[in-house]
Amino acid sequence: MLTGLQDRTVVVTGGSRGIGLATAERMLGEGARVVIAARNRADLDSAVAKLAESAGADRVCGVRLDVTDQDSVDAAIEEVSSGGSRPIHVLVNNAGPILQGAPILGSADTKWMATFDTKTMGMLRVARAVAPHLPQDGTGRIVNISGVSGRSLLPNSSASGMANAAIGAMTSYLAHELAPRRVNVNAVSPGLIRTEAWEENACRLGEPLGLSGEEFMHDFQDRLKVRLGRWAVPEEVADVIVFLASDRASYVTGQLLAVDGGLANFVAS
Ligand SMILES: NC(=O)c1ccc[n+]([C@@H]2O[C@H](COP(=O)([O-])OP(=O)(O)OC[C@H]3O[C@@H](n4cnc5c(N)ncnc54)[C@H](OP(=O)(O)O)[C@@H]3O)[C@@H](O)[C@H]2O)c1
Repeated sequence: MLTGLQDRTVVVTGGSRGIGLATAERMLGEGARVVIAARNRADLDSAVAKLAESAGADRVCGVRLDVTDQDSVDAAIEEVSSGGSRPIHVLVNNAGPILQGAPILGSADTKWMATFDTKTMGMLRVARAVAPHLPQDGTGRIVNISGVSGRSLLPNSSASGMANAAIGAMTSYLAHELAPRRVNVNAVSPGLIRTEAWEENACRLGEPLGLSGEEFMHDFQDRLKVRLGRWAVPEEVADVIVFLASDRASYVTGQLLAVDGGLANFVAS
């Protein structure tokens, strides 16, 4: 099944690690040209070097960008689009903060603001900057990465849950506004995805409970009753992102697709 992504330009925010890095790898596998964007230059350089090993150095590059700063976002997109002369076909809006659990009534305003600023507003800022560069021939795509806490109850995850829920609504409104330009906008909602950041998080969260990181992850998955009975690897999310970015999803827009092993149904049904 051909995706049509050959030689298209794909920008992946948060592409230096985790789901973003796996997405960049999969996009390169489809023949796309990929720009990964994040804050830390050293991480970007090492991710680009790793990706270039199989794809070739001319197909992948990194650009520094902080999604909490509109000027930084605008400058990065200006650079990627060569001052507006080069189209950006696909935006994978993936950069997000690491989950930090806290009860809803015990969280300071600053914590809520920081989560929304990076995740929800961050995605809106990048979409706003990229939208004028998306082609109007039916190949333009935005894929926003939400998260299962926006649809299902994950204890102590209210800030990310509310930020993720807002991304579902933003996706719908953006899909409506960009439909006349023939740009499709969708969202993916990952469940429990085994990234390096989550493995480190699990060690930290497990310690006070006397659990190793692995034990914590296993316990967490059992408590949330993941139907498939396991965590996913980032590539399993990346494959769905590639599908939504591809020609194969030409009649899909405004949708939020859960990639969570069945977890999202736990509360909803
Ligand atoms: N892993 C999961 O289980 C899971 C579940 C549900 C949803 N998600 C969502 O999926 C997305 C990716 O998650 P992940 O687990 O792969 O994350 P990760 O491994 O922690 O990677 C996060 C990426 O985002 C970048 N980033 C963070 N803040 C940024 C900022 N202000 N500006 C620009 N880049 C920034 C990071 O690079 P720098 O730090 O260098 O900027 C890094 O490249 C996130 O939106 C997350 O909320 C993940």
